[in-house]
Amino acid sequence: MTGPPPIEVRGLRKVFRQTTTGQSVVAIDRLDLAIAPREVVAIVGQTGCGKSTFFDLMIGLEAPSEGLIHIGDKSPHADFDLFRGRIATVFQQDRLLPWRSALDNARLPLELIGLPEKEQRERALTWLNRLGLGQFTNAYPHELSGGMRQRVAIARAFAVEPDILLADEAFGHLDEVTAAELRDTFLKLARECGSTAILITHQLEEAIGVGDRIVVFGKSAKLLADIHVADWPKSKYRLLREAIQSTLQSNRPDPRLTQAANARSSPRKRGPGKKGSTSGR
Ligand SMILES: Nc1ncnc2c1ncn2[C@@H]1O[C@H](COP(=O)(O)OP(=O)(O)O)[C@@H](O)[C@H]1O
Ligand SMILES: [Mg+2]
Repeated sequence: MTGPPPIEVRGLRKVFRQTTTGQSVVAIDRLDLAIAPREVVAIVGQTGCGKSTFFDLMIGLEAPSEGLIHIGDKSPHADFDLFRGRIATVFQQDRLLPWRSALDNARLPLELIGLPEKEQRERALTWLNRLGLGQFTNAYPHELSGGMRQRVAIARAFAVEPDILLADEAFGHLDEVTAAELRDTFLKLARECGSTAILITHQLEEAIGVGDRIVVFGKSAKLLADIHVADWPKSKYRLLREAIQSTLQSNRPDPRLTQAANARSSPRKRGPGKKGSTSGR
């Protein structure tokens, strides 16, 4: 297995023309971003700053107005068919089909990519079991709680064994305990499967809990901060939260975040050390 390909975003721009007013909206303005295979990234930003549009471009539903998104060396929009079953998304709404059981919902993407029915069922059952829904495989969405329905949606995403998992505000509408539980399960499984995972969230606690990286979007998806959580000791999480909050409010990078980024990059600027400098990882 080669693992998920890297994601490269360069000079990405997306402009929508609003049908009612005829005005242009710049949803994304010259975004540059690189995401390594298996990285777990949280994206935070205020409502309307272009987060969901970024996901629409990632899954190839929309084409860039300018610039590019490459996954490996392919474009999710231009090479749409190549990405079938390789990117999976969990949204805020579970988007389950009410007339299909949990099992039939979880196996739906596998049906769409044309797997034999036996394999569809086996894989969907495995994932429903892993998400604690072994007793509910024949239940219909209306018979399940919000948290359970979201578990079915997560099982459906994992069942395709995707390279890339995208979660758009997938947990924020649930009660805190359920949300934290589901987010932890999602992240644990993503790491186990070796998928790259990108989570959009408006909750800073959730972003900080995610792990590797927090990317802060300003208006028109301007990259305000790119935070490597490992640079921050747990004792400074409160400071981190405050710095992100002030970045979001002022639409400008808080100096405390810039300082941390500089401290991180300066030893590297001095060049490679004596030991392990050619190992590359
Ligand atoms: N299909 C569309 N047509 C026109 N405008 C859109 C469309 N999708 C998004 N927008 C606009 O682009 C901006 C970014 O939206 P969105 O990506 O949904 O933001 P977020 O997910 O960060 O809340 C908003 O101003 C929104 O109104
Ligand atoms: Mg959104």
